[in-house]
This record gives sequence, structure tokens and C-alpha cells, in this order.
Amino acid sequence: MSEKQDILQRKIDESRLGGGQERIDKQHQKGKLTARERIHFLLDEGSFEEIDAFKTHRTKDFGMGKQIFLGDGVVTGYGTVAGRLTYVYAQDFTVFGGSLSETHAEKICKIMDLAMKVGAPVVGLNDSGGARIQEGVKSLGGYADIFYRNVQASGVIPQISAIMGPCAGGAVYSPAMTDFIIMVEQTSYMFVTGPNVVKTVTNEEVTSEELGGASTHSTKSGVTHMTAHNDLDCINKVKRLLSYIPQNCEDQPDDLPYELNDEIRASLENIVPDNPNQPYDIRDVINGIIDPDTFFEVHKNYADNIVVGHCRIAGMSIGIVANQPNSLAGVLDVESSRKAARFTRFCDCFNIPLLVLVDVPGFLPGTDQEWNGIITNGAKLLYALSEATVPKVTCITRKAYGGAYDVMNSKHIGADMNFAWPTAEIAVMGAKGASEIIFKREIANSEDPAKTLAEKEAEYASKFANPYRAAQRGFIDEVIFPKETRRKLIKAFHMLKNKKQKLPKKKHGNIPL
Ligand code: HXC
Repeated sequence: MSEKQDILQRKIDESRLGGGQERIDKQHQKGKLTARERIHFLLDEGSFEEIDAFKTHRTKDFGMGKQIFLGDGVVTGYGTVAGRLTYVYAQDFTVFGGSLSETHAEKICKIMDLAMKVGAPVVGLNDSGGARIQEGVKSLGGYADIFYRNVQASGVIPQISAIMGPCAGGAVYSPAMTDFIIMVEQTSYMFVTGPNVVKTVTNEEVTSEELGGASTHSTKSGVTHMTAHNDLDCINKVKRLLSYIPQNCEDQPDDLPYELNDEIRASLENIVPDNPNQPYDIRDVINGIIDPDTFFEVHKNYADNIVVGHCRIAGMSIGIVANQPNSLAGVLDVESSRKAARFTRFCDCFNIPLLVLVDVPGFLPGTDQEWNGIITNGAKLLYALSEATVPKVTCITRKAYGGAYDVMNSKHIGADMNFAWPTAEIAVMGAKGASEIIFKREIANSEDPAKTLAEKEAEYASKFANPYRAAQRGFIDEVIFPKETRRKLIKAFHMLKNKKQKLPKKKHGNIPL
């Protein structure tokens, strides 16, 4: 090896060591992988090409001139995930706690710019103490440079954020503007202001984990779309997520090879109970319809009265939005509307067809809901489904009442194929409420009001609590036996493969945020 090659080799070795072996050991002791190990497990073996490995910060203040680490706390580059080009950055906590300097930000921006030019996903592996304190406004500017790119890239290329350590202050806003956040349990947290500031301002005592750990953000705030047991689990979830998503907004998701069978699923026949008020698990319907073991649920522990996630049907990547009768009878409320709207918009950005399964008694009544803006939030889902131009297929398994019938991908808001099971009930409201209103006088004047109410309820239910009125008008394309659902959906999604729909020319819509 020549002397010049020797220098290069030494520099490469130095850059690989990040902040030094002692800090790497500390990272491992916390149960965390290093930035390079994370990239190693994310990308296909041998595919990683590093960019800017020798880049260093330019700060002299606070003795920083003497503390130079090659790469400056972030490893950036590109490689492949399951053979598909993916850009990645991994913050290196062993270098100044992974804090973001001006140059650190430049490195991230460089790969984001490349990803935009080429049209490929960006995966960010976040593990950082936030803005590099020694750099002041330069690091704040660096954050804003990233935020700006997050927004430009939104809806153009998929952006996934894995939170694998601290993510605090304004730093949270980059992940927040990406498509998906996955947090590692116990070792990651996200908050705008940490426990100390919280104590000073509100006098609340709270730990980092309680304030912004994975469990908090997956159940209470919905900030994270999923959680992972450890770094490896997190990386595997990123890879699985990518498998359902195309490279960019002009690309189509990959179909997996699939040989058609008879596709009849007898198990679907007995899921909806005879008693219309008895709950059941919509996941049983989902699993009965989709290819085995392909459901990848999003926001699983948040707003569980609606279930959303990716799956495959006959090898096709499909997004599912489904009311969950097992939780709050599947009612739509503030959180579930927001959750479903966000997922719908993601699928629509990236050409992933949507399947909407409906069993919804309506919107949740009450002061809590009204004061928290069920009007605006319910409108988000209505808007998102109306705006989506991907193939949209609906299957009503049981209830589709009131405004929620309209919202849940009805024909009227642009659904392409609407199926209903024989158990479907489609009406303005439930039989009891409806009878109490329209037969009010008759019931009050009768000798036995309770009996009359029961009779009127039965009459109303027999007339309206079925799918046939909607089918008569063409609002339902076909009433189908549950066991035929998978076959019908495969045919419908195949039929819709070449769907092309353009929205009216506009700058952008004004979704009720
Ligand atoms: C410079 C930092 C740093 C930072 C950590 N380090 N955060 N250096 N800027 N923001 C350094 C530490 O000095 C230490 O260096 C090494 O990283 C590891 O940090 P430790 O504190 O030893 O690690 P740990 O105990 O695990 O604690 C991690 C931590 C803590 C919770 C993240 O370091 C911390 O609270 N850091 C400050 C967080 C913060 O307030 N950041 C600014 C947020 S505001 P040595 O040499 O000792 O190993 C923000 C604004 C962004 O980010 C706005 C965007 C619009």
C-alpha cells in the first residue's frame, strides 16, 4: 500500500470509530446499536455507500476546534433494502450525543436532495441530543434546512423516521413531518420540552418515559405509528413497511407473484354475530380477506375503534381502513377520524389502493367530542377519502349509519366499488332512535307505548336495516356472501388497476386541519 493509500485507510478507520470505543461500549450497555450497526442491519449486505464520511464541523468556540470527529455525528449514504434503492442517515450518539451541527445538517440535506432527484425513500435513524449547543443559530438553521426539505419531499418520496434514542426540542419536527415514525421502547423519547422545563413551567413531575416514551406516543398522542422492542425489531419494521410502498409518487407498489385459487373463505360467514349489538373483531374479517400474515398494522394502540394498516391481497399492496366494532362499537370520534384520514392520505400519495371495511353506528356524541372538534376532525376523514384518487373499494359488513355512511368511502364520495354483506344495515339512524322520532305522536298516543315502540322499531328495521334499498339505487354495487368477499375484492382491485383520475386544477386543497 502506498503512503497516500495508507493515509486514506487511516482516515477510513478513524471515521468508522465515531466518538471512540468507550462511547460505543456505552451505547451497547444501554441496549442500543451504533449508527453503523443500524445501517448494516437495515441495508442489503454490502450495498451501503457512504457519503461525506470525512466531513467535519467548522466551529472553534468552546474548545470545539480541538474536538473533531470525522463524519460529525451522522453517517449518511445510500444502499438497497430488498434490492430497492434507499437513502439513509443514522445519527451517531457517540459523537457529541448525535447533536446536530451545521455540517451534520448539510450531510442529511445532501442525501435528501439526492433522494428527491432520483425518487427513492429516505430513512432517518434518529438518536440525538438535539441542536449542537456550541453552534447556536447555525445548528437551528441546519434543522430548518431539513424541515424545509421534509416538506418539499412530502408526498413525493416516502420518508420514514426511526426514533432510536433521544429526540427533543424542535428536533421532533423533522420526524413529525415524515410519513411514519417508529419508536424503540424504553430507549427512545420525543418531546418538545423535557421533564425539567415541564416541572418549571407547569409544576408537573414526569419522567422522560412518561412524557414522551414509545408507550406514551403510541397510545396517548398517536405521534408514533408503531413501537419496536429493540433496535433490530425497529429496523425490521422499517424494512417491512418499505415493502408495501413504491419508490416515489410516480411509481406503483410492487406486486408479489400470486396464483389465483377459488379464493372462497368460508370462515368469513360466521364472524358477524346474529345480534346486531354484539361486538366482533374486525381483524378476523381482515385476516379472512387478505393473504396470510400480511397485515402490517399502523397506529395499533391508538384510537383502536378504527383499524388501519398495510396488507396484501393476491400479492397486491393494499391499505385497509376498517371500523372496529370491538371498541366503542366502531364509532367514529376525533382520534379515529384523524388516524384514518392520515393513513388514507399516505396511501393516496403513494398509489396504494384502499379497502374500507364499514361497521359504524355513527359519530360519537357528547360534549367532549364536540368541544374537541369532532366536526373538524370528522371532516378530515371525509375530505381525505373524497380526495383520494387511488382505487377505492368498500365493503359494508354491518352498520353504516348517518353521516358515517357517507364518510366511510360511500359511492357518493368517489368509491369505485361498493359491496355489502347481507347483514348490512344502511340508514339515517338506528331503528330505535328513528322510531322514537318519526312515530313520536303515534307512540305517545297508543295504549301501550313500549309495545308500539317495539313494533315500530321492528317495522323500521325490516324496511331499512338491510342493504337492499341502497342496492336498488346503485349505491351498493353488489350484495355478496361474506365467503365470496376475497374473490370479489381481488377481481375489483384487478379491474381498477389502470384507474386514472385527476382532481380539478388547483394549487392545493384546504383540508380542515
Ligand atoms: C452538544 C451534546 C448535546 C448537544 C449531548 N451532548 N447533547 N453536545 N450539544 N445538544 C453531548 C454531551 O455533552 C456528552 O458529551 C455526550 O453528548 C453524551 O451526552 P450525555 O449527557 O453524557 O448522555 P446521556 O446521559 O445519555 O444524556 C443524553 C441527553 C443529554 C438526554 C440527550 O445529553 C441532554 O439532555 N442533552 C441536551 C439536550 C438538549 O437540551 N438539546 C437541545 C434541545 S433544543 P461528552 O463529551 O461528555 O461525552 C433543540 C432545538 C432544536 O434541539 C430546534 C430546532 C428548530
